[in-house]
Amino acid sequence: MTIELWKNVDRHYKELILPHDERFDRIEESVRKAGLPEIAISAPYGRLMEILIKTAGIRRVLEIGTLGGYSTAWLARGLPPEGTLISLEIDPERAKLARNNLENFDFKNQIEIRVGNALQLMEEMAQSHQETFDLIFIDGNKSQYPEYLELSLPLSRPGTLIIADNVIKHGQVVNQIIKTPDQKGVVKFHKMVASNPHLEGSVIQTVGQKGHDGLAFIRVKETLSSQ
Ligand code: DHB
Ligand code: MG
Repeated sequence: MTIELWKNVDRHYKELILPHDERFDRIEESVRKAGLPEIAISAPYGRLMEILIKTAGIRRVLEIGTLGGYSTAWLARGLPPEGTLISLEIDPERAKLARNNLENFDFKNQIEIRVGNALQLMEEMAQSHQETFDLIFIDGNKSQYPEYLELSLPLSRPGTLIIADNVIKHGQVVNQIIKTPDQKGVVKFHKMVASNPHLEGSVIQTVGQKGHDGLAFIRVKETLSSQ
């Protein structure tokens, strides 16, 4: 099994099953051209989140880490017309690129990209007691995953779904190769999920065009007694 095969399988199902929308390819191209890292989610992963949002009737989404707006567009595709998405991005240049890319979609007015440190922006949101989110997609700085999770809680309601990207990264966690701040952040994140009685979670490994990685699926419980 090689990454070449995983890439081909992703490509096969992208062509066979996914909607053909060149605007998504153009977002990827814009990231490439800007010399930014090509680390956005895959198309099948984006489609999965779109379908999840539609199925669960999710109306309010928070995304942490916008980059070029690729995952932002997939998330927004799932929203009903009254739905809204707030995406947090620390880099003003990336935010500008994403805004530009999202201009091409009908749902552009449902998306707000906020520029700044996500932890600070989330704290401000929590303090202003604004409406909670139905889905929080964590995909920012991996070393800060524990803090993103902590700050997601006051922004959640019972039943809120939290999805976190890049929580496996070639299985480093199991291999005990935990050296970098990013790896340490992800390990602490998993421990927090395991020990917080308000959360129920799972981790799904993935292989594909982005190699071997995975996502965490976490649900904020209705009550502490529900298992
Ligand atoms: C990488 C991948 C990601 O999806 C991300 O959010 C950050 C980094 C990577 O492959 O390095
Ligand atoms: Mg990611």
